[in-house]
Amino acid sequence: MKDRTVHIKSFGCQMNKLDTALIASALQAAGFQLTDDVKEADAVLINTCSVREHAEERVYSHLGHLKHLKEHRPQMVVGVVGCMAQRLGDKLLEHEAVNLVCGPAQIPQIADLLREALAQASRRAVVTENIRQGRQDSDAALEEFESTYSAGELPGQAFVRVMRGCNNFCTYCIVPYVRGPEACRPPELIREQVRRLADAGVRQVTLLGQTVNSYRYQSGGRTWCLADLLDMTAHVPGIEWVRFVTSYPYDQFYDEIVQVMAGSAKVCHYLHMPAQSGSDHILRAMNRHYTAKHYLELIERARAVVPDIAVAGDFIVGFPGETQEDFEGTVDLVREARYKNSYIFKYSPRPGTTAQKRLTDTVPAEVKQQRNVELLAVQDRISAELNRTFVNQQVVVLVEGPSKKQVRNAECGMRNGGSSDSRDRSIIPYANVQLVGRTSTDHIVVFDGSPSLAGSFARVRITQTSPLTLFGDLQP
Ligand code: 5AD
Ligand code: SF4
Repeated sequence: MKDRTVHIKSFGCQMNKLDTALIASALQAAGFQLTDDVKEADAVLINTCSVREHAEERVYSHLGHLKHLKEHRPQMVVGVVGCMAQRLGDKLLEHEAVNLVCGPAQIPQIADLLREALAQASRRAVVTENIRQGRQDSDAALEEFESTYSAGELPGQAFVRVMRGCNNFCTYCIVPYVRGPEACRPPELIREQVRRLADAGVRQVTLLGQTVNSYRYQSGGRTWCLADLLDMTAHVPGIEWVRFVTSYPYDQFYDEIVQVMAGSAKVCHYLHMPAQSGSDHILRAMNRHYTAKHYLELIERARAVVPDIAVAGDFIVGFPGETQEDFEGTVDLVREARYKNSYIFKYSPRPGTTAQKRLTDTVPAEVKQQRNVELLAVQDRISAELNRTFVNQQVVVLVEGPSKKQVRNAECGMRNGGSSDSRDRSIIPYANVQLVGRTSTDHIVVFDGSPSLAGSFARVRITQTSPLTLFGDLQP
């Protein structure tokens, strides 16, 4: 029988990207062939996100497109995987296009489920019945799956999950309901995985967790925290950079993390620590356990020890009851925190969360939009100012590969029949192209160089900046 082809489409956060890469690796190991072309696929998997309604709407719009494709290819199997699958379960089977629904904890079974759906044209939903009661049965399978398959979309880089789930129950957030309770992976298994990745050429590891700094594990008569994991990972031969996302503004073990950053040249000077709001009254309503003042003190404490640390934030504007004054509190916090960048979201009520059940979505859509734009403008001015300080400086970057613009141009040249010239430029490894890389502080740097540099470190002198990007020249 010829290899069955699968097309995978991924939505959502780093966690999801990691799951997608693991699924891809597991399917290949099981004899499936991956394809970028949905039209030639025997099966299509959509790895979904539920964090905002918009993310789910995009999945439905994609399913609509697949339903249309299936009119001509009724044998095609469509599977919905991930957070939306866990949230909606067999309700998703009501959609004409969907054959298979698979929750995040059932991902280790994906190859078998797909084979079954292809052979029997069955329609099936496999999710965790009561996710808050834990995933005891599936945790062992998840652990084995995680350590068997490898994931690395970018050359020289890999993501390593150190914990699953979340126990925080911020009132707006769906994550605890779809990813289940917190479970930390044993440090020995993490070390083994990092060693294998390093042996395979990985130079940068990103440790992943919904609240990665709440990592705790009892082993060898001691309690391991994130700082210990960072130190352990930094000592694996071959690993040059270690980073971690995402941090909750906790006091506990915070100074240890900052100290390890200051003490090891390998721990990146980058902290993604969402504040969500600068108003104490809104923070309370969000069930976030800190005040704006305390949050800013945490940043100050980090900067006192690691002066060049770059901090990134997340914010939700238009949370129920957010007044103009509350919003101005957020603007003030953004001004004081001087983030490298912020991810700003409009509040989106998620079914089953405390905020959706108990609070009314009071802020009109236009006001949410206006606050989003305004906060982004404040952040942009700060980012632009901070980025300008890089002009004439040399930075070290880990090269990701050709920039999006470069890839677009190359594809465009091919699509338009392109001259052999433009096509050649996209494949000759020693001809210069526009490359993108990131500094240890997570600054995006664009410069010209050979595509063969992807996955290695390079030195770049910065000549120009914009709020989101540094531009420069490769140094010998
Ligand atoms: N509405 C809007 N934004 C949300 N986030 C999480 N839940 C919601 C929601 N219901 C944002 C938070 C979080 C990021 C991943 O998504 O800012 O940090
Ligand atoms: Fe969601 Fe809060 Fe957990 Fe982050 S810490 S995943 S925002 S519940």
